[in-house]
Amino acid sequence: MDNRYFGTPTRELVEQKRGNFDPKAYVNETIAALKAGLGDQKVVLGLSGGVDSSVSAVLLHRAVGANLTCIFVDTGLMRKNEFEQVTGMYTSLGLNVVGVRAQAKFLGDLRGVTDPEQKRKIIGRDFIEVFDEQASKLQGIEWLAQGTIFPDILESFKVGEDGVSVKSHHNVGGLPEKMKLSIVEPLRMLFKDEVRAVGKELGMDADMLGRHPFPGPGLGIRCLGEVTAERIAVLQDADDVFIRALRAEGLYDKVWQAGVMLLPVNSVGVENGARTYESAVALRVVNSVNAMTADVVHLPWEFLTRVSTEIINKVKGVNRVTYDISAKPPATIEWE
Ligand code: XMP
Repeated sequence: MDNRYFGTPTRELVEQKRGNFDPKAYVNETIAALKAGLGDQKVVLGLSGGVDSSVSAVLLHRAVGANLTCIFVDTGLMRKNEFEQVTGMYTSLGLNVVGVRAQAKFLGDLRGVTDPEQKRKIIGRDFIEVFDEQASKLQGIEWLAQGTIFPDILESFKVGEDGVSVKSHHNVGGLPEKMKLSIVEPLRMLFKDEVRAVGKELGMDADMLGRHPFPGPGLGIRCLGEVTAERIAVLQDADDVFIRALRAEGLYDKVWQAGVMLLPVNSVGVENGARTYESAVALRVVNSVNAMTADVVHLPWEFLTRVSTEIINKVKGVNRVTYDISAKPPATIEWE
């Protein structure tokens, strides 16, 4: 079995291939290794809608076909219509996807919670519970596939005085131990640009491969204050206006990450001669190489003011738009 996909990649291997990465060779070699390593055993994979898990799924699907089952959890905290759109795309790729509508659980457990860390814990725990429950219903699964990429592994290693001390890398729940699953991570040797090249080689859609990073806890940590169905809907609408505008202007692919934060602040406005007292949102757009540091993108003023007007006109409940001009550090990309 090739330990590059099933075990720990060596730094030498990564360095050797850096600079002369050949996506076609990687795809052929990986599919052959996965076929040899997995045989006719069954694999479960959690899809997030993001680039890494999607490319992992397509690669594994090429290797084991119907023996791959993907689980896609609708947390209710994704972008507007994202669950439906992404599910449609996965299905058209031929993947066997179990979609789980779990927004009621997430929103129920988040009720009344405003502390960012508490939110993250609840969302993470709920995700694990939903995923575990679905995966446990599947028969004869032996492998858990993950979309781990090389920077995730680097972040999991902390170099101490005595060499390398390992910080646990996030796995999907208690599943590997409970079901005695082995882990397969077909992208664990790759950097993000290489993952995108592999996806392109696999014939995946450019829009999917160019998706911005999106946090695991989703809009739950972009909805400052209490997370309710109504507030998430407002945030989704504002985010949708903004992302569409970035795409229409040809800016989406030029920036690392963009999104909207719904603030826990109301402000006074005036509409059709009447006083309003509604929410404020903050637009956040950054460029980065690895998300460890990030620069604010200087979007054209004319574009920003146009987006501001469009959001206020179209999104009921928002009467003020601000632009976040904080670099990371000292600010983080996400507000929570
Ligand atoms: P911060 O806010 O720490 O974010 O500057 C750095 C990058 O990581 C993303 N992010 C997350 N991704 N799970 C994820 O998978 C998370 O809990 C999470 N929190 C932040 C963030 O969107 C940015 O790209």
